[in-house]
Amino acid sequence: MIVLGIESSCDETGLALYDTEHGLLAHALHSQIAMHQEYGGVVPELASRDHIRRALPLLREVLAQAKLDKHQIDAVAYTQGPGLAGALLVGASVACGLAMALDKPILGIHHLEGHLLSPLLASKPPQFPFISLLVSGGHTQLMRVDGVGRYQLLGETLDDAAGEAFDKSAKLLGLSYPGGPAISRMAEFGDPLAYKLPRPMLHSKDLNFSFSGLKTAVLTVVKNHTANICEQDKANIARGFVDALIDVLVAKSMTALKGSGLKRLVVAGGVGANTQLRAALDTAAAKRRYQVFYPELEFCTDNGAMIAFAGAMRLKENPALATRDYGFNVKPRWPLHELPR
Ligand code: KG4
Ligand code: ZN
Repeated sequence: MIVLGIESSCDETGLALYDTEHGLLAHALHSQIAMHQEYGGVVPELASRDHIRRALPLLREVLAQAKLDKHQIDAVAYTQGPGLAGALLVGASVACGLAMALDKPILGIHHLEGHLLSPLLASKPPQFPFISLLVSGGHTQLMRVDGVGRYQLLGETLDDAAGEAFDKSAKLLGLSYPGGPAISRMAEFGDPLAYKLPRPMLHSKDLNFSFSGLKTAVLTVVKNHTANICEQDKANIARGFVDALIDVLVAKSMTALKGSGLKRLVVAGGVGANTQLRAALDTAAAKRRYQVFYPELEFCTDNGAMIAFAGAMRLKENPALATRDYGFNVKPRWPLHELPR
């Protein structure tokens, strides 16, 4: 079965073809980062318009890569939510229009389920069950994953997501959107002893997170500089921020593994691309004989492959999930626990 996946929930248009027998056949992505950079963040209306422009050329690109004709697609999976309403509507309408024209079934996919399952696209995928640390721009969650659709939320952020904290702190340091990779690069040159920033909820008894206080701590340090901050000082603040955030993510992930009795940690989402996070998780896990799995770097941030894959996994388990009801509705807010099993 060949599934076309369409991702358009935020600022990336991603299309991919996944074959349940032969794996990922093709994927193509257009990132709108350069367009939004000028505004310091994603402008929803511009995002929607750009998705419209990109979707069909990207479809032609993946079909050409896979040397397939569109009639060979067996089902279309699209990101139904959560995300920006207008951006989601573009992907949904392209998916449903195309599926209707081709007389193929469609399936709406939860964006976070796409991220959650994306590490299974790697060459050495983890086996179920595992603990998942999902760290994206909009979400920070620890979950127990027993199989496709079998997700138990163990803890989540009470305010800012990890990616959001990265982006906001980067902005305070004068770095452009999205600041995650930039602040991470800057932190490499920072002195780890210069700024000891707070580790919010590190010792709370639960598996929840809170990162808005950490961002405020960055703001306070920046404001306390009366003169211009020199590059070294910026790097020191970046280092203080990255170390604090990662300490919390690592500690809570280890607690989740210990509490569940599971030995596999699977990281997903944009912040999963972060090299300092990967190094810290690897070290902490090795000490305790846990294994850590990551998605391929290109599948950490938003992409169509994870949507095609999640669609294929869902349909393999339950073909009845796909419908020929092309009257779509998107779900900008959609808690993961409302997903059917
Ligand atoms: O998963 P994703 O592409 O989008 C959402 O679904 O939210 O994640 C985007 C987030 C952004 O906040 C971005 O700054 C962050 O992931 N990010 C990183 C890195 N690469 C992307 N954060 C830290 N280090 C990175 N290397
Ligand atoms: Zn995402």
